[in-house]
Amino acid sequence: MTEHIQYSAEKDALILLDQRYLPNREEWFECQTTEDICYALVVMVVRGAPAIGVTAAYGCYLAGREVQGMDGDWKEFLQSKLGQIHDARPTAVNLRWAVREMQRIWNEAGNITLEDLLPLWLERAKEIHIGDIAMCELIGKFGGALMDDGDTIMTHCNAGALATAGYGTALGVVRGAIDQGKKVSVIANETRPFLQGARLTAYELHKDGIPVKVACDNACALLMKRGLVDKVVVGADRITANGDAVNKIGTFGVAILADRFNIPFYVAAPKYTIDIETPTGEDVPIEDRDPMEVTHIGDHRIPPEGVEVYNLAFDPTPNELIAGIITEEGVLYPPYNESIKKLFSAD
Ligand code: MRU
Repeated sequence: MTEHIQYSAEKDALILLDQRYLPNREEWFECQTTEDICYALVVMVVRGAPAIGVTAAYGCYLAGREVQGMDGDWKEFLQSKLGQIHDARPTAVNLRWAVREMQRIWNEAGNITLEDLLPLWLERAKEIHIGDIAMCELIGKFGGALMDDGDTIMTHCNAGALATAGYGTALGVVRGAIDQGKKVSVIANETRPFLQGARLTAYELHKDGIPVKVACDNACALLMKRGLVDKVVVGADRITANGDAVNKIGTFGVAILADRFNIPFYVAAPKYTIDIETPTGEDVPIEDRDPMEVTHIGDHRIPPEGVEVYNLAFDPTPNELIAGIITEEGVLYPPYNESIKKLFSAD
């Protein structure tokens, strides 16, 4: 797949494949300022927890470049811009992690000038970018081993190359299984309202020649009952200290149904998606997005004027519904409070 996040040294800008228009057209969105970065994050030019982490890392560097031209206290200006990036979307921990990582470099550098800080930030952003692909490939290797030849894997939302720097987490598991010589196919739940499954998962798998069928979100129970689903693999925006996994709205329902039909339900995510500071999924802020995403299809309003809607973008899946959490360091199993503690004990 085309690299959908690109840093251009020539333009000193971040160039993003605009996911709002996929699969119909491939348009690119150029970010040079904090405002561009925040806009791209909020309207979902770029989305998916690791991808927004990578974008935020470059965003901090671009914020520094922007502050360079300003009169006044650069530290104060920069701090406020980092705050804007940090707050662009509340649920994915990766965004917060990336901004904190840049802040850590700044703090550790002591009394550094902005001119000296910027190359350190750009270098770190590139490392996070490249490192993300390597992490996904390892997730694919560990997760691929859990899949069987002939499996049909259901996924919800898009946790693929487009949601990461490349390869994907949940779709990394699919790619990993294929790399291991297994024949697998995918059911992509369409994922209302932004249709990450129907548009993005279908787009990237189809482009790579991986068999995929799109299903309405509400077909899940029947497909499972008919024995058409062997495994479920999803990504996560945040996994809490007890192993609850917060992911795209609807994931919780898929997990309940998988439990009902004895289908293993896996979560695939890099270690830094695990937020050990947050005890349970119920403690994670759930993004409440623009009602227009629910009320409208294109320019056409569906519910009558004046009727309100819910557009909560994520839900927490309780750890007892999760068969395993696939990370780049191996697969975690219940009890998750213990396996997660052990994973972090070496740090
Ligand atoms: O609102 P989105 O599209 O950013 O939500 C994305 C998801 O829910 C993904 O499943 C999650 O971020 C994991 S991406 C590897």
